[in-house]
Amino acid sequence: SRFLTILGRTTLITLFAGAGGFYYVTQLDRNPGTQLPFDPEKKTLVVLGSGWGTTSLLKTLDTTDYNVVVISPKNFFLFTPLLPSVAVGTLAPRSIIQPTRYITRHKARQVSVIEAEATDVDPINKTVTFVDNSDIKGAVSATTISYDYLVYGVGAEVQTFNIPGVQKHACFMKELGDAERMQREFMDCVETAAFPGQDSKEVDRLLHMVVVGGGPTGVELSGELHDFLEDDLKSWYPELAGKIRITLVEALPSVLPMFSKQLINYTESQFKESKIEILTKTMVKEVKEKSVVLQMPDKSIVEVPCGLVVWAAGNKGRKITQDLMAKLPEDQTNRRGITVDDYMQMKGANGIFAIGDCTATSYAPTAQVASQQGAYLARVLHQIARRDALQARLDALEKAEAHLPPAVSTDSTEAIAAAADDAKKIEAEKEELKRQLAKFKPRPFHYSHQGTLAYIGSDKAIADLPFMNGNIASGGVATFLFWRSAYLSTLFSLRNRTLVATDWIKVKLFGRDVSRE
Ligand code: FAD
Ligand code: NAI
Repeated sequence: SRFLTILGRTTLITLFAGAGGFYYVTQLDRNPGTQLPFDPEKKTLVVLGSGWGTTSLLKTLDTTDYNVVVISPKNFFLFTPLLPSVAVGTLAPRSIIQPTRYITRHKARQVSVIEAEATDVDPINKTVTFVDNSDIKGAVSATTISYDYLVYGVGAEVQTFNIPGVQKHACFMKELGDAERMQREFMDCVETAAFPGQDSKEVDRLLHMVVVGGGPTGVELSGELHDFLEDDLKSWYPELAGKIRITLVEALPSVLPMFSKQLINYTESQFKESKIEILTKTMVKEVKEKSVVLQMPDKSIVEVPCGLVVWAAGNKGRKITQDLMAKLPEDQTNRRGITVDDYMQMKGANGIFAIGDCTATSYAPTAQVASQQGAYLARVLHQIARRDALQARLDALEKAEAHLPPAVSTDSTEAIAAAADDAKKIEAEKEELKRQLAKFKPRPFHYSHQGTLAYIGSDKAIADLPFMNGNIASGGVATFLFWRSAYLSTLFSLRNRTLVATDWIKVKLFGRDVSRE
């Protein structure tokens, strides 16, 4: 009994210490200290966007080097990998976003965060124009500011290929609002199907969900929809759940082309088991209010009735990116996005760096690439600040040298010697500065691939992980646990980690909410 008492006490003390530590850390986070003010001597660094690339940059950036201004139409960072979970209510929308100010308020020097959409970048005069496009506007809602350096990380937008009806009738899966809209519309389809007197053909139509695009977004979303159906809808809509159908349409011969063949086969067999229909070599030609028009592998055209279409068919550059590239026609010719050099500098522009999905590089447009580019660029910008300081000192010395009084014959020998000594000191310092400036050569960006993961539903995930010089492919429940822990640790803050973990526990205990907001 003495042993049990000691064990009990130790457990209690550990629990209290853990809870105390957790509380202390959260309070530190909630109460940022005072920051250095803007310094007119420092250069202005304007950052466009608050996504994967730029948030990673802000986390690593030494803000004492610059006066930093962040401009983004969203005043938060969105953790996109868990967006499909929001679309079915596994996670609450706010669990996967992090206000940008929660990051910038912890930096050494104050950072100006502006909720606005950049509408124009002038690479010649080095200015950015932006507008407040939120519902509430003040007396001023558009302005232009100058930058010394610009980090361009505005991401990409949904590619519709101008297919008729997509913009009007389909839901996207790119922004937080898209996931919320999809959840509302999905539940609307289910409730409408439950409306008395609905004939069976109409019920079948309403309960047919079509996901377009067999990339990771489309696959993960289909898996999440299936979980919602199995875990929750079967209990609350027993008469309808059996009629819900999910169809994944992909134009290429297989889904998930970026994964190894073995994992593609595994996903396809899992989807078959889950009764998710995959239509490969099938292209969506039109989206109508109550149907999708498909071009089948044999080129025949079929119109399929459905209640909801989710469009996950890839990305394209934003208009502002196309406009910026059009201003540098000699260097910016890649239709996929901005061409950058090995140091993330936009070719043909002075002082513009571009990172993430808005660029055209040899890497896939992923969060992993964007965040590594952001952290890399923060380090390069620190070196640039040091280089600029050295250059400014060199310029000042050259100016001082030009104004040194010439030694004249009437001067005393001491004065002549002192002047010669000054000139010698300046020359020595200049030589040293030039030597240090010559050494300035940042390392080129190097991407380190950590593997590719995707959730496929039914508590299963797939992973292609680099190992030695090869690759390990794994799929199943253990990979799902790895997927969850990998994303939990990748979330940017303790707050997000806690919210996501609690959402997972809540859903395990109480299921997903079927109310329609
Ligand atoms: P984004 O993260 O898209 O950020 C762009 C930022 O620019 C946003 O803050 C936006 O508001 C802002 N912006 C837009 N227009 C303007 C403007 N005019 N002026 C100023 N700011 C502007 N990748 C992975 O590696 N792993 C995954 O598991 C994964 N899952 C994904 C799941 C989904 C559903 C989606 C949609 C994508 C997923 N990705 C994943 C891809 C990943 O999200 C992108 O590659 C990543 O977001 C690119 O980062 P970025 O910084 O370039 O752009
Ligand atoms: P994607 O570009 O990877 O896939 C889109 C798919 O839609 C393509 O396979 C294309 O063939 C298909 N498609 C296009 N038009 C079509 C049409 N009219 N009819 C039928 N099919 C059509 O897009 P996704 O999945 O949104 O991913 C975008 C980026 O984000 C990728 O780089 C991806 O790797 C990354 N991502 C990574 C995730 C992960 O690692 N788990 C999760 C989600 C996205």
